[in-house]
Amino acid sequence: MEQVEMRAAVRETYGPADLSSVPVFAGGFINFGSWRSIDLAGPLTVDDRIRSQQDLYRRVLDAAGPLTGRRIAEVGCGLGVGCALALREYGPERVTGMDIHPEQLERARRTNAELLAASPQGLRFVQGAAEDMPLGDGEFDCVYSVEAAQHFDDMAAFTREAARVLRPGGRLVVASFFTPGTDPENGARLASALETFADGLDIARPVTLVTDALTRAGLTDARAVSIGPDVWPGWDRWLSDQWAPGTWPRNFLTAYERRDLDYYLVTATRPGA
Ligand SMILES: C[S@@+](CC[C@H](N)C(=O)[O-])C[C@H]1O[C@@H](n2cnc3c(N)ncnc32)[C@H](O)[C@@H]1O
Repeated sequence: MEQVEMRAAVRETYGPADLSSVPVFAGGFINFGSWRSIDLAGPLTVDDRIRSQQDLYRRVLDAAGPLTGRRIAEVGCGLGVGCALALREYGPERVTGMDIHPEQLERARRTNAELLAASPQGLRFVQGAAEDMPLGDGEFDCVYSVEAAQHFDDMAAFTREAARVLRPGGRLVVASFFTPGTDPENGARLASALETFADGLDIARPVTLVTDALTRAGLTDARAVSIGPDVWPGWDRWLSDQWAPGTWPRNFLTAYERRDLDYYLVTATRPGA
């Protein structure tokens, strides 16, 4: 397979400036978070913010089924703090964190240096693209991805690769944002409201395109469930401490309310267990 090129927007965003250090993120995570266990009425703390991002991981890992003693891989692992959470809380035999960006992997190895030293068989980080994974056929019981799929260039290649590296009966779980409908104007509306769509970092893609790609890749039970109510109001409430009304990041909530964007948990299974 040809080597997958990293898109310029991905290279820049996750390059020398460490996005995880921007105050809207915290704890080494880079995701919007799942806020259902956090009281949004009171003042929010950095601990709440970290918890929201951990909870998004927990939601994804819970959807994978029992992981004790299993081999699991994260696609787009960023700083690998979600891999560490999986290892700590879910008892898998081994976690493989994969990311396309070499600087993210350097950060992941640095951030998790102690854990890597203490558990050399339990955790590893590898460089690779979602669309061309440097992983073996049938190697994993579970492949999961948290807030990275909105960057993947080629959804058909990602789903084929996920199907290839899963063992029969293995589960795929993806959390990310997609468009609820197939209106061709949706992408233009998102690009005019949100810088990350305008600059090509995030790709506007109907969620049905994702579930269809999973089915075409040979996976069964492809399902997408909206978790938007647990993501967007909390994300916007957190943003509101740092970004004034009318600034572009506040348009994520507006895009959700207008049904131009939603946050999904997408699951599928490789048949033949
Ligand atoms: C928003 S961050 C999420 C990081 C982590 N999952 C988290 O929740 O903290 C997206 C990550 O996906 C990675 N990424 C982007 N495109 C990718 C691709 N095609 N294959 C693998 N990783 C990719 C980026 O380098 C970045 O580290």
